[in-house]
Order: sequence, then C-alpha cells, then structure tokens
Amino acid sequence: MARSTTYWNYIKTEELLGLQTGVDKNDVELSNDEVMFIVVHQIDELWFKLILRELAAVRDLFAQERVREQSLSAVVRGLRRTALLFNQIATHFQLMETMTTRDYLSFRDKLSPASGFQSAQLREIEILIGLDASKRVPLGHESSYMEALKHADGSKSAAFHRVSRRLGDLPTLYDALGDWLFRTPIQGSTPEAETDPQHVDEFIESYIEAHSTEVAKVKRRACELAKTDKDRERLTKRYDREVLNARAFLRALDRPEEHRPRSSRIRASLVFIESYRELPLLAWPREVLDAVVELEQSFLIFRQRHARMVERVIGRRTGTGGSAGVDYLDQTALRYRIFHDLWTVRTLLIRKDALPPLLGPEVYGFVANQ
Ligand code: HEM
Repeated sequence: MARSTTYWNYIKTEELLGLQTGVDKNDVELSNDEVMFIVVHQIDELWFKLILRELAAVRDLFAQERVREQSLSAVVRGLRRTALLFNQIATHFQLMETMTTRDYLSFRDKLSPASGFQSAQLREIEILIGLDASKRVPLGHESSYMEALKHADGSKSAAFHRVSRRLGDLPTLYDALGDWLFRTPIQGSTPEAETDPQHVDEFIESYIEAHSTEVAKVKRRACELAKTDKDRERLTKRYDREVLNARAFLRALDRPEEHRPRSSRIRASLVFIESYRELPLLAWPREVLDAVVELEQSFLIFRQRHARMVERVIGRRTGTGGSAGVDYLDQTALRYRIFHDLWTVRTLLIRKDALPPLLGPEVYGFVANQ
C-alpha cells in the first residue's frame, strides 16, 4: 500500500520553523533583524548544499575515462544551475542591507567569535572546485582555515570532519576538467598517437602566426590613429606584448618544465574548441567551457557582493572571525580564481576567417554538403 504523507511531514515545516533561535531558547524575544540574519544564513547554507551536490555530479561525469557526448548537456545544466544558485545568494545580500549598522550592532556581540569563515560548506565548495590551499588568504589569529573549524577547546567539530572528508574526495573539478581537455582531439590527433606532439606543435605555431597577423593589423590601425609619438610607442609595446603573451601561454612557459607538455596541450585544446565550435562534436564542449566561466564569474560576484554589503553594514572594522573584514573579503575575491586558462583564452581568440585551416574535420562529425 502506498504511504501517505502531508506537506508538513515532507517539508519538515515545524522542525524548520523552530531553528531560528540563535543562541537563545526561542525566537520570540529576538528582533526582526536578528531573525532575518539567521534565516538568510540558513537559506544560503541550503543553497550551498545544492551547489555541492551539483558540482560533485558534474565532477563525477568528467572523472569517467570516456565522457560521452550525452553527458555534456547534463554537465552544462549542472554548472548553469550552480551559477544561478550563487546569483540567488548574492541577491540575499540586498536583504541584509535593509539592516542599519546600529541594528546589526545591537546583536552582533552575541555571535563573536563565530563567523561565516567557519562555513564548512563554503570551504567544501572551494576544495571540490580545486582551490589550492597554498593560495588561501590568511585570516588573522587562526593558523589555518582548518584551525577555525575546531571547538574552543581545540577538539574537532563536525564542520572540521566534513571538510577533512572533502579534502580526500578527489579528483577536483579542475583536475577532472583538465584530464578531459587533455584528451580533446586537436586537428584530428589524439594524445595516444605517436605523432600527436608534432600535430599539436604545428597547430600551436599556425595559431600563433594567425594571431600575430591579426594583432599586427589592429596595431597598424591604432598607431595610425595615435595622437602623439608617445602614445604610438605605448600602443606598440602593448600590442607586441599581446603577441609575446600568446606564445608564452600556448607554450605554457609560466609552468614548471615537467608540466609544460600537458598544460600546453590543454591550452591548445581550449583554443581549438573555441575556434572551431561550429563542428558538431565541439558544440557541447564549447558550451561546457562557457558554463564553467559562468560558474566562476557568479562565484566571484558572490564574493564581491558580500564584501560590498559588509562594507555598507559594518564599514572596515575587524570581522567577528577576527579577520581584516572587508580587506580580507576583497582579497579572496581577487585571488580565488581557479580556471585562469579559460579566461586567458578569451584574450587570444581571433576572427573565424583568420583561423588556420582545419585538418580532419570528419573526426568531429563534420559531413561536407553532398
Ligand atoms: C550583516 C551581514 C554580514 C556581515 C556583517 C558579514 C561579515 C563578514 C566578515 C567580516 C567576514 C570575514 C571573516 C570574519 O572576520 O568574520 C565574513 C565572512 C563570510 N561570510 Fe559574512 N557577513 C554577513 C552576512 C553573510 C551572509 C548572509 C552570508 C551567507 C552566505 C555570509 C557568509 C560568509 C562566508 C561564507 C564567509 C567566509 C568567506 C571566506 O572566508 O572566503 N555572510 N562575513
């Protein structure tokens, strides 16, 4: 016999409505500001929960040895949903801004030293995406973000265990995406082929040449229009640097020598997918790349929006978690970028008509008109 339920049993409404008490016994005596403060944090933790589920599912799809074409639409859906969730959280900060500085100060001391810095789920999201621990901005009095997840007596909290487990949950989305990109056929060639390094090399050289021809055209025009010699000199330097940067990027000169072949192939794949995205088998991969950028963009906007809300409500005072407050938050928004290469590639892309000729289009499902 089918089990019957009710709305309140399924949603756990009564339990949910009993959770907004903060450090008090119930919420009767709390101000509306404080209840809103608690509710918004709770909602955002729930959104974090959904984000983690989506990101883990996307990572799992990429972690397969062979990622099927059909999986890519699910990947894009998951990434876009995640970006939307971050956007939702960012809009909640507007709600927080209806609270004045004095309203917040009337209950702020109750929280201290609790802080969003102890949000285990935010740390999990960063770890799952692939934030390297060495890139983290130090908080202040805590020796590490993991220390901040211990109880006052030094014992490990549930939050600490949650984050520890996530540290062991590999690969990260960044690594899984990198492995997938590494396997992308470039000019019809795959990494298993003995001749692959040569094909990739030829593609990179032809792309650099096409790119520098394009930049030279723009440079010539900009110099013709320059008002002074000094301006012309400045523009020349700038465009010449663009050409040098393109070569350094595609040759992965910023990476340690032993990592260069892999990084260089991954970067060539990014350029290849973006450049020949009209080919049937590259259409979804290109959507994937766009959705990853959308995800990172929404995460960065969430961080920046939080920082501006904090500046508006508490100014530049020290955070309850003991950090430099807004300065700390602004640094995280600046430094916590993970998919650098996906952004950099956008500086290098050129017009369709200027691209090097495509080899082996049939590998990508292209069928010439009969
Ligand atoms: C009046 C409202 C708020 C103020 C004044 C505030 C203030 C701060 C400050 C100063 C920090 C830096 C760490 C510290 O020293 O405490 C911080 C971190 C954080 N806050 Fe808020 N916050 C507010 C609301 C929110 C809301 C609604 C969320 C929900 C998502 C949130 C999530 C976080 C997270 C996750 C961090 C850690 C950021 C990181 O380490 O990258 N905060 N907050």
